[in-house]
Amino acid sequence: MEKRRDRLSIAIDGYSSCGKSTIAKDLAKKLNYAYIDTGAMYRAITLYAMEHNLINGNEIDLKTLEEHLPKIDISFVFNRKTKINETYLNDRNVEGEIRRLDVSNKVSLISTIDFIRNKLVELQRKMAKEGRVVMDGRDIGTVVLPNADLKIFMTASPEIRAERRHKELLEKGEAASLEEIVKNIDERDLLDTTRKISPLKQADDAIVLDNSKLTKEEQLYWLVKIVENIQKG
Ligand code: DC
Repeated sequence: MEKRRDRLSIAIDGYSSCGKSTIAKDLAKKLNYAYIDTGAMYRAITLYAMEHNLINGNEIDLKTLEEHLPKIDISFVFNRKTKINETYLNDRNVEGEIRRLDVSNKVSLISTIDFIRNKLVELQRKMAKEGRVVMDGRDIGTVVLPNADLKIFMTASPEIRAERRHKELLEKGEAASLEEIVKNIDERDLLDTTRKISPLKQADDAIVLDNSKLTKEEQLYWLVKIVENIQKG
């Protein structure tokens, strides 16, 4: 059966804080596709584990967390006002809380756990089943949607990523030093790229987008052109 060109699945992977979600959101809006932020799903589980005292330093109570797993429901609800998919953890809107620095500091630990990844990958595949989706994360092109119609791998220089994250947190009124952010980014890069299951890595058929020196508009223009070429067939 011929693949429907108007029902594409687009995978956007890359390092943390390199603007993946901004561009993925913009592209989804432009194409009138759903945007799925898979990092938000790992963050929501991290928040759950923190709230249930299942994380102590770098130690996670794996047994209890696995027992709780069937009780953890993660979904996205489209907010008509903000026009974004907001993350829900068991019917509670956690879109703001999951972006806190204390959650960011623990999320890479949670994302190394096999039973967590299995649950979320299954859920992500379900969400992308019908196509018309832009999904961003670390393992979308390699593991979640290996047959995606378009795979983008995003990078930007570490300094630029830290500055962007710093600005983002300041806008939210969260105080964090640039030094602390650089440390968080370095630690997450290391954990994300070296973990045993589904490490962050460029898919062989992914197109690289280094956006260190590109504006949002330039990136979107470039991406839309690629999508249009695929749609033309
Ligand atoms: O994209 P983000 O920074 O919100 O992602 C949060 C963390 O979740 C990040 O440290 C890596 C992890 N993650 C992952 O392991 N796999 C994904 N598909 C998405 C995120």
